[in-house]
Amino acid sequence: MVAVFASIHSRIASFATHGRGAKVGDRFPPRRLTVSTPLKVVAVNGSAHQPSRTLVLVQALLAELDQRLVLDTQIVDLSEIARPLGASLTRDELPPDIEAQLAAIESADLVIAAAPVYRGSFPGHFKHLFDLVGMDALAGKPVLLAATGGSDRHALVLEHQLRPLFSFLQALTLPIGVYASTADFDGYQVGSKSLADRITLAVERAAPLFANAARQLRRVA
Ligand SMILES: Cc1cc2nc3c(=O)[nH]c(=O)nc-3n(C[C@H](O)[C@H](O)[C@H](O)COP(=O)(O)O)c2cc1C
Repeated sequence: MVAVFASIHSRIASFATHGRGAKVGDRFPPRRLTVSTPLKVVAVNGSAHQPSRTLVLVQALLAELDQRLVLDTQIVDLSEIARPLGASLTRDELPPDIEAQLAAIESADLVIAAAPVYRGSFPGHFKHLFDLVGMDALAGKPVLLAATGGSDRHALVLEHQLRPLFSFLQALTLPIGVYASTADFDGYQVGSKSLADRITLAVERAAPLFANAARQLRRVA
């Protein structure tokens, strides 16, 4: 079990090395692939702050997915776009780079929607981002939910706040989301075995949904 945990940690650490300081629109390095169309994964970090535990959780989920599927990965990071996003009341007021990020969310095969808990819910700017996403753009789209909070008391933010929002948008929210509290982190790294296990479980359940699709192949190591 310890070996499994160490392996998870080393994979996440390796991904963090690639992904550290990830900028808006960053893509991760090419992988050793068989011929395949990569799964386009767009992960939204709903924290406007840096450093961000929510971003750490997002990167850990991407690292775990990357072990199982051929990915084309993009992070939409609210810490980099919250101010111009908040100043735009309508879609046509958005700066072109943020418009492109909304378009990426809309065309993703899988969206990871991650947010810190603010006052028992997701932050307002996270909601504003999804207010500007096309009304039907997420219909039928798989969405993996994730959240971080100061304590475990708000773990059900996944079920009572995030899931209803994405259900309204007719997204296919995946059954298992991941919640992490501050105690699950060692500074700005995944710090508890139980969080690492929850990340693994969420991805283990998610990956077969895409691996079985004709256009995606499992990665050949
Ligand atoms: C304005 C504000 C409100 C917060 N409200 C809650 C809350 O209701 N419940 C909770 O568990 N944590 C709450 N927190 C703590 C954050 O959710 C927690 O520190 C989170 O991991 C921060 O994510 P980040 O590091 O990605 O910014 C709040 C933090 C802020 C700044």
